[in-house]
Amino acid sequence: MTVNDFILKSYSNQIENGGVTWESPSNIALVKYWGKKANQIPENPSISFTLNTCKTITTLTYSKKDDTSNFDFEVYLDGKRHDGFKPKIQTFFERVLVYLPFLKDYNLKIETSNTFPHSSGIASSASGMSALALCLMSLERQFDTKMTSEFFNKKASFLSRLGSGSACRSIEGDLIVWGKTDVVEGSSNEFAIKYPYKVHENFKNYQNTILLVDKGEKQVSSTVGHNLMHNHPFAKQRFEHAHQNLNKLKQILESGNLNDFISLIESEALTLHAMMMTSNPYFILMKPNTLKIINKIWDFRNSTNLPIGFTLDAGANVHILYPKKEAHRILEFIKNELVAYCQNGHYICDEIGLGANQLL
Ligand code: PMV
Repeated sequence: MTVNDFILKSYSNQIENGGVTWESPSNIALVKYWGKKANQIPENPSISFTLNTCKTITTLTYSKKDDTSNFDFEVYLDGKRHDGFKPKIQTFFERVLVYLPFLKDYNLKIETSNTFPHSSGIASSASGMSALALCLMSLERQFDTKMTSEFFNKKASFLSRLGSGSACRSIEGDLIVWGKTDVVEGSSNEFAIKYPYKVHENFKNYQNTILLVDKGEKQVSSTVGHNLMHNHPFAKQRFEHAHQNLNKLKQILESGNLNDFISLIESEALTLHAMMMTSNPYFILMKPNTLKIINKIWDFRNSTNLPIGFTLDAGANVHILYPKKEAHRILEFIKNELVAYCQNGHYICDEIGLGANQLL
């Protein structure tokens, strides 16, 4: 399969207007994507859990127009016009036009909302871009009614990637790999695939509680962050390290060893932050409460032997990961000891999910 296979070669002009709605989840990386080449090609492979509760719901309404020289679209967030999203979507449309040549033929109305609070510090780019890509694929499917669901998902992932790299891992669940690696057959830099190997029962229904330590805008956008890996003194080692970690994780996923799993994901999270602390310019994205939570988790784990671990994305919030069967005791601990470190006591309970759904 090459990128050219994603170009819609011919399409009829039959579809006048219509609408479609998708919901698409966020995802949390276990081995992180941090650093990219041109065209959103990752410097290293990554793997993530697809989430279930944190989702974007997007409705795309389209109607044929006469002037096909420009994109014509409006964006609404929670029912209100939101021009702030337009530049990012404009860039996305420019990137994907070659694959979706009908884009300038329609007036597009994009209405979007998130199930998680807008100002929660949780990035909505993965769920948002994948939801939009899926809506566009539903429109494309009307021109190509014989399209297989395999192609639909692959191209949706491919388009999502061009919107926001990690968004390509939100189409399906529950464990998703993106980026070429010898360790995972069929893996690609262009789109994400379902993790194709055996996964131990321990990882089924894995829980993710997100502690909202800082609900502000991200201090460093991921575009800036990825660019910091250019000329980074430890970039080469980090990219190799990610390959090695994916290899290790494959064995852990098969064996079900939760201690090794926790060591690996925590090390990945701290490595991501170490990259930001050692780039030029440098950033500390953790807050004092992030560190307090991490230390509390370590103390609790040492005293109880419960398999609780954390990961971080490029911000201060902490994602706690644990098996469902330990949920009762771990949630008690979170409520009693960790919520005090969350902004306004806010946290979100999520779990591993199976991917996006078409609603209409
Ligand atoms: O998809 P982007 O460009 O927003 O980058 C996401 C980067 C991390 O969330 C920090 C890691 C990852 O793999 O999701």
